Amino acid sequence: MEKIIINGGRPLSGKTELQGSKNSALPILAAAAAVGGVSVIHNCPKLTDVEAAIKILEHIGCKTKREGHTVIVDSSCAERFDIPERLMREMRSSIVFLGALLARFGAGTVSAPGGCEIGLRPIDLHLSSFAAMGVDITERSGILECKAPSGINGCQISLAFPSVGATENIMLAAVSAKGETVITNAAREPEIVDLAEFLNKCGACVSGAGQSIVRIRGVKKLSGAEHRIISDRIVASTIMACCASAGGKVAVSGAITEHLAPIIPVFEAAGCKITAQGGELITEAPKRISRIKSLRTMPYPGFPTDSQAIVMAMLSKADGTSVISEKIFENRFRHVPELIKMGADIRVEDGCVAVVEGVKKLHGARVSACDLRGGCALAVAALGAEDKTVIDNIYHIDRGCEAPEARLSELGADIKRA
Ligand code: UD1
Repeated sequence: MEKIIINGGRPLSGKTELQGSKNSALPILAAAAAVGGVSVIHNCPKLTDVEAAIKILEHIGCKTKREGHTVIVDSSCAERFDIPERLMREMRSSIVFLGALLARFGAGTVSAPGGCEIGLRPIDLHLSSFAAMGVDITERSGILECKAPSGINGCQISLAFPSVGATENIMLAAVSAKGETVITNAAREPEIVDLAEFLNKCGACVSGAGQSIVRIRGVKKLSGAEHRIISDRIVASTIMACCASAGGKVAVSGAITEHLAPIIPVFEAAGCKITAQGGELITEAPKRISRIKSLRTMPYPGFPTDSQAIVMAMLSKADGTSVISEKIFENRFRHVPELIKMGADIRVEDGCVAVVEGVKKLHGARVSACDLRGGCALAVAALGAEDKTVIDNIYHIDRGCEAPEARLSELGADIKRA
């Protein structure tokens, strides 16, 4: 089992290029199957989750080729509409392939998706939306058989919660539906906008992405397109937190400042100096991080749940007490016991509130990544801790962060993979 070893206490400096967004790449790869023809997707990060999506594409009959960070998908020969359990279990996002299969074949057979165990993560909103679009859904021993015998019908869907995955799935299923689909209370994340831009390049008719009401008018003909995935705002925030924790000054090139609007003020409130100049986002760490009195995770444009763990790691050395409320997922504090092993003083109340009493120092320890962002949080803490930290179970980190040891080494961190 691979691990990451970090000798902390070295300030970071220099510049690093930001990777493409995992959460954009996954639905866009699924969309490439929905539209047919050849799609060329640039800035596709090299991650195990992206490889899992490529395996699904190949399973259903697409031809794929990776050239560096470009993935070429030829979906003209796609013919299968089942995804076996072993592929579904590799990641949560495998569920967006269901919308893509419904758009392409009017049918899809899948099992429950896998992914990080950060909560119950039901798919009821996805399924009830498909049912409203005329899809018959039968469940047998955990396998969902979905068929739309009279085709997918556009309809009005009001989401009880602005679920990212459900919004994407509905958009995918609706691109070739009969008539118009209107999603109310849609998720507004930048990744939704990226998906809509790709679909529109393919001939789809999607409007309103990035706002609460998204309209998708079904079209008869779609084809592949060329597209560049947006940069990863969550990885940007992770690098910023690494700098804040270790000290120093780091420039991230390729960050989209607008996507980081809910995140930057939090780092500024913690005492970091953040400057956007010449396509770079520069973070300058203060001598000591200030506490954040209260921070609550919210759907976009609120503070993202995916940045909660890394900010908590940063705040564990803050001057004062910070209170973090996690309201998106029920089980997203699994990094807390690991941070405590490193000397952090954190108590969780009611399962969804973490009270972080800032300590003067963290120390190295043997810790274990429990999910993707929780694993990144341990690296953030380790960079600012005294002595050596060994992080186990780093396959979680590899699901979303490309070559973290290479990126952080070029910024002066003492980090290696063993
Ligand atoms: C996506 C992101 C993930 C991020 C999350 C919230 C991808 C690949 N993953 O996950 O990194 O943390 O958005 O920003 O893009 N829910 C239901 N029923 C449903 C669907 C969701 O109750 O049918 C609930 C979930 O349990 C959760 C909340 O809605 O409590 C948010 O989930 P959702 O927005 O769907 O997250 P994902 O798409 O899984």
